[in-house]
Amino acid sequence: MTARMFPVPGRHQDRVYVITGGAHGIGRACAERFAEEGARVMIADLDDRGAKVADAIGGAFHKTDMSDPDAVRALADATVASFGRIDIWHNNAFSAVFKPIHEQTLEEFDTITGVGIRGYWMGAKVAVEQMRGQGGKGVIVNTASVQSFVGEKGFSAYQATKGAVLAMTRSLAIDHAPDIRAVAIAPGLIATNAIKGIPDDVMEGVIADIPAARAAQPEEVAALAAFIASDEADYMSGTAVILDGAYLAIG
Ligand SMILES: NC(=O)c1ccc[n+]([C@@H]2O[C@H](COP(=O)([O-])OP(=O)(O)OC[C@H]3O[C@@H](n4cnc5c(N)ncnc54)[C@H](O)[C@@H]3O)[C@@H](O)[C@H]2O)c1
Repeated sequence: MTARMFPVPGRHQDRVYVITGGAHGIGRACAERFAEEGARVMIADLDDRGAKVADAIGGAFHKTDMSDPDAVRALADATVASFGRIDIWHNNAFSAVFKPIHEQTLEEFDTITGVGIRGYWMGAKVAVEQMRGQGGKGVIVNTASVQSFVGEKGFSAYQATKGAVLAMTRSLAIDHAPDIRAVAIAPGLIATNAIKGIPDDVMEGVIADIPAARAAQPEEVAALAAFIASDEADYMSGTAVILDGAYLAIG
C-alpha cells in the first residue's frame, strides 16, 4: 500500500519556489507538487530534461551547475528576472559516487561536496540575500538524508555532505529567525534514479531493514516539502523532518 496524495489547491498561490535538481526524482516531484498548489516554479538542473518538466507545469527552467557559485547566483538572478522575487528555495540537487574512502578519489570528493555542501551553502546565501532584500518572509528547504543521522557502509563523502546540510540548516534558522525559516527533510529510501543501480539482492536486504517494507515514492517527499514550506509550518525551523518508514526507529 503506497500513500495517496492530496495537493492543497492555492496553498502556495503565486509564491516563487526554486528547486535544484528538479529534472528528476524528488526534485521533479516537488516541482510538480508546488505548481499544483499554485506556486511559480523555477527548476534548476544540469540536465536539460528539466526544461520539459518546466513546460509541463507552466514553470521556468534554468540550466545550472550547482557546484559553480557564479551559476547559482545567475539562477537567483534569472528567477527574480522571471518572477520578481524568491519565497522558497529548495536545495536538493546531488551528484555522488558511493565508495569507501580508500577507493574514492579526491576529484570525486570535490564533486560530491561541491554540489552537496558548497552548492547548498551558495544556494542558501543567494536566497537569504534576496529574501532580506525583498523584506519578506522566506523558507529554505534542504534535502538531507537519514544518513545525516546514522552511518551506512561505503558512503563517507556523501555522508559528510548530509551531516553538513543538517548543521547548516540549524545555523541558518538561528541567524534569520523569525523571518526566514530553514528546515531539512531527511528521506530514507526513495524510488528515484539514485537507487536504480542497486542490485536486486542488495535491495532485498535494504528493504528488509525498513519496517515499512518498501521504498517511498518521490511524491511522498514532495507532499512533506509542500507542508514544510507552508504557513501552517511557521513554527518549524532549524530541524529535520525524517521520512523513512521507521528505518531509524530500529536503532
Ligand atoms: N533517493 C533516495 O533514496 C534518497 C535518500 C535520501 C536522500 N536523498 C536526497 O534527495 C535528493 C534528490 O535525490 P534523488 O533521489 O531525487 O536523485 P535523482 O538522481 O533522481 O535527482 C538528482 C538531480 O540532481 C541533478 N544534478 C546532479 N548534479 C547536479 C549539479 N551539479 N547541478 C544541478 N543539478 C544536478 C540531476 O540531474 C538530477 O536531476 C538528494 O539530495 C539526495 O541526497 C535521496
